[in-house]
Amino acid sequence: MARYLVTSALPYANGPLHVGHLAGAYLPADIFVRSRRLNGDDVIYICGTDEHGVPITIRAEAENVSPREIVERYHIDIKESFDNFSIVFDNFSGTARPNHAKLSQEFFLNLLKNDHIMVKEEDQFYDEQSDRFLPDRYVEGTCPKCQDDKARGDQCDKCGALLTPFELIKPRSALSGSKPIIKSAKHWYLKLQNFEKDLVTWLEAKKDWKDNVTKFMLGWIRTDGLHERAITRNINWGIPVPLDDPEADGKVLYVWFDAPIGYISSTIEWAERVGKPELWKDYWQNPETRLIHFIGKDNIPFHAVIWPSLLMGQNSNWILPYDIPANEYLNLEGEKISTSQNWAVWANEAAKDFPADTLRYAIAANAPESKDADFTWTFFQSRNNDELANIYGNLVNRTMTFVHKEGGIVPEANYTERDQKHFKALSDKLQELFSAFENYKVREACKLTMDLAREGNRYFDEMKPWELRKTDPERLKTVLNVCLNTLRILAFGSYCIIPNTSEKLWKMLGQESKLSAERVGSVVDNMLAINQKLNPSEILFRKIEDSEIQAQIDKLNKQSGRKKMEGQEKLESKPEITIEDFQKLDLRVAEVLAVDVPEKAKRLYRLKIKIGDEERQIMSSIKEYYNPDELVGKKIVIVYNLKPATLAGELSEGMLLAASTSDKSILFLVDPGDIPSGARVN
Ligand code: MF3
Ligand code: ZN
Repeated sequence: MARYLVTSALPYANGPLHVGHLAGAYLPADIFVRSRRLNGDDVIYICGTDEHGVPITIRAEAENVSPREIVERYHIDIKESFDNFSIVFDNFSGTARPNHAKLSQEFFLNLLKNDHIMVKEEDQFYDEQSDRFLPDRYVEGTCPKCQDDKARGDQCDKCGALLTPFELIKPRSALSGSKPIIKSAKHWYLKLQNFEKDLVTWLEAKKDWKDNVTKFMLGWIRTDGLHERAITRNINWGIPVPLDDPEADGKVLYVWFDAPIGYISSTIEWAERVGKPELWKDYWQNPETRLIHFIGKDNIPFHAVIWPSLLMGQNSNWILPYDIPANEYLNLEGEKISTSQNWAVWANEAAKDFPADTLRYAIAANAPESKDADFTWTFFQSRNNDELANIYGNLVNRTMTFVHKEGGIVPEANYTERDQKHFKALSDKLQELFSAFENYKVREACKLTMDLAREGNRYFDEMKPWELRKTDPERLKTVLNVCLNTLRILAFGSYCIIPNTSEKLWKMLGQESKLSAERVGSVVDNMLAINQKLNPSEILFRKIEDSEIQAQIDKLNKQSGRKKMEGQEKLESKPEITIEDFQKLDLRVAEVLAVDVPEKAKRLYRLKIKIGDEERQIMSSIKEYYNPDELVGKKIVIVYNLKPATLAGELSEGMLLAASTSDKSILFLVDPGDIPSGARVN
């Protein structure tokens, strides 16, 4: 048995959560926590909202309310999302609570005492229009590493680089959009260079961490080295710098200084709540504890470099992270999720339309573990219909229906070799499943979970209980017993990913004890009691209709103001051209003067046309669409600089533009309205 302290990144309390958040730092963590508990490990799962910093003040300013109001509103909203998705923390705190401020200030003072903090009088961007110093995040500009023009002064979301405001190309103030000036101000800096050597040794030893964490961080340290980084800010929302210094007045600790300490203060809050106020120390200060931080990739430098430095610099017995499983991003329908453009599936809204387990399963089956992944509504639908309903639901339904017809109890059994083989296969799958969980492989875990159900369906089909009913009632009993025990194992195995369904199934099987009290090591051997009475069965997964999926896609398009998507495939296109290519065309308005049918080409019209003062003739195959008298006097558009050609022995000087259906059953000449002939068309 091991002891785990699992955390998920504290979400900023500045807006609602979307599926991308859940896929990154939360659902994989919840699944991991559940699996470790079923393994018999001691686990606490800690989170809370990140309530300080510029993300909050920017939102508050935008809405013209106090930061506290923003924080309180979204703390509740975010908590609700977790409840809706059955993501269950042992404690969910918030960093604006008093015990957190106290602890963060202690961290600061210890670092100061241990000579890891220095003061610097430094140039800082200042927005003259708003009359304010600009903290990093209030400065935006072009990323020097990847050229993305939406980088902020602390970090580039596109490439993940940590930045300082002065590295930004073409900096602008996020408050006013104006070009900031430079003014000097005093700030406190964490001497990250003090930890460089220890960090490198520590990271190098983490052989089984994800590359996106260790390689990225070691590369970062090796290229630029570590330098002091400001840990105070000029804003009026945050934890006051705990110093008796006039220069500290009006300054607060940098949000990335206090936020990870929130993991600790939330744990302390938990310990108090469960009535064992010292218990948090067993986790945070016991070297046996495995501290695991689930995060999204944009949080890597903060968790793998800055946070361990804060811990090391305490010169105390804090443990360091045991692992930092960082996930990549989840895109949506092929595009980056964007809060500002409302290109997102909001967690609380999705939970109104679909069951938590279906959402959990579809997100987990497509988790952005090692590269960005794409959430699409059709993928969601097929995970539900083709897997949850057709494989899992079907096995449960056919088994339960059958058994209820046979008396609704667990029949006695006399297992054959074939049955033992079946149990062995389930047991092997279960081992594989739990090792996938242990290695944070939730995609694979979804597949393995479904494999348990597939195994059950295979057994059912092979045994043909509907025939045994007539031919061999004794054998039928055993077969149904095996099927029911398969469901018990399935309920157990699927608990981490689809906990609500799994508990329903557990109850259907008449289990009195809690599923969560069962252990992976014994579940296969702990068979259902003979004559155990079963409870009525119910349909576990309803089919999701195409119309529901279309409704989600329409909603997404509507809320984001995009059309795209339905009839989504692009039209078949000729090769791309440049604007220069297009500008080679000289399109002009022309007027039709006369129409006749040439001797030698009965299918064509000969049009006499006027472009400005010039007269030309054009041969055209529009005879079946227009009568001559409909054309005379009409304005049309022609390609004026087309090389003249001879058609059916007649000169054709240009070409007219028309739109037609693909089968050419309808055709209309492009109509320039009343624009005089000779005018250009671009
Ligand atoms: N609030 C940050 C974000 O959403 C994450 C903070 S994680 C913590 O990106 F470690 F600082 F708590
Ligand atoms: Zn970048």
